[in-house]
Order: sequence, then structure tokens, then C-alpha cells
Amino acid sequence: MNTLILSSSLAKNSRSYILCQAVEEVLTTKGVHCTSIDARLLNMNPCHRDITPDMSHLAEQIKQADNIIIGMGVHCYSVNDSLKILLDGCFADATEKFFGILCAAGGERSYLSTMHLTQICMNEWRMMQLPRIVFATEKDFTENIITSDEVLERIELFSEEFHTIGRKLLA
Ligand SMILES: Cc1cc2nc3c(=O)[nH]c(=O)nc-3n(C[C@H](O)[C@H](O)[C@H](O)COP(=O)(O)O)c2cc1C
Repeated sequence: MNTLILSSSLAKNSRSYILCQAVEEVLTTKGVHCTSIDARLLNMNPCHRDITPDMSHLAEQIKQADNIIIGMGVHCYSVNDSLKILLDGCFADATEKFFGILCAAGGERSYLSTMHLTQICMNEWRMMQLPRIVFATEKDFTENIITSDEVLERIELFSEEFHTIGRKLLA
């Protein structure tokens, strides 16, 4: 199974990036071939500007992936701006792919913000979401390390279910 893990935050100390790394570690031990993308390293242009070579490459990687895991930070109770740019510019060939969401937020009350990403992916590309997200806030980290047992347990569960269902959907 080829899984693309897209960390979409541009923040220097991105917490959703840390969640992406943690899930990649678990999936790799299960034999999943993970390709990790760190949006901080991409040159990107917003919609209606020329698509950059980095964005074209990402669009091709999305096309080739069996399934996709998206890391997002919450901005204004919704997806962060860089993720919206990548969705608009690179997801045309994500149609019907299985996907999962890893989310970092400032506050616990923002947990439903991932629904905007669910809506975009399901309505625009008929993608199917793993019905479990990993959601974490500042208090779940200490010096950029995940220290919450609950979040660590959630990462294990998410990875196990993503792996099991992802493989079944390919069979
Ligand atoms: C412009 C902006 C808007 C934000 N809006 C929210 C918000 O509506 N709700 C919330 O819980 N956190 C909000 N935050 C906090 C981020 O979700 C938090 O810093 C999180 O760690 C971002 O993910 P990242 O570290 O991967 O970038 C906002 C942060 C920024 C910079």
C-alpha cells in the first residue's frame, strides 16, 4: 500500500507535522510505503496563478498514491490557507481515494473544524474518509514531543484502522 502523507502547515514548529511524522512511523512498521510531503518545502502559488513545478509534482504524487493522509492546522475554525491552496491546485486526481485527517488546533473547541476538509474532499472528489481523526492541541505536546497518552493511543488506533481499511479497499 502506497500512502501519501501531506503535512500542509507552513508553521516553523508545526504540531500537525509532528502528528504526521508519528503516524508515518507506525505505518512504516506495518509495512506501508509512505511518501511524506512537507508543505514548508514546497514553492506554491494560489489558485489563478501559475501552478509551480512543486505543485505539479505533488499533483502527480497524489495521482499515484493509493490513499492519502492530510495533516492540517486549524485556522479560523477551518482548514489552513496553505492546505486550501494545495487542495485547489493539486487534488484533481484524488478522486475516490481513501483519506485520513490529522489535526492540530489551538483549542479543544475547534475539533469540528476538520469537517470542512471532510466536506471538500467528499463533495469535490468523492473521497472516502476514515471515520476517526487524530486531534491535538498545544497541551498534548511538550517541547515539540507528543506527551499525551490519549493522543498517542489515538495515533496507534488511527494507524491500525487506516492500514486495515486502506488495504481492504485495494483488494
Ligand atoms: C491565522 C490562525 C488562525 C487560527 N485559528 C484557530 C482557530 O480558529 N481555532 C483554534 O483552535 N486554533 C486556531 N489557531 C491555532 C492553530 O490551530 C494552532 O497553532 C495549531 O498548532 C496549528 O497547526 P500547526 O502547528 O500544524 O500549524 C489559529 C492559528 C493561526 C495562525
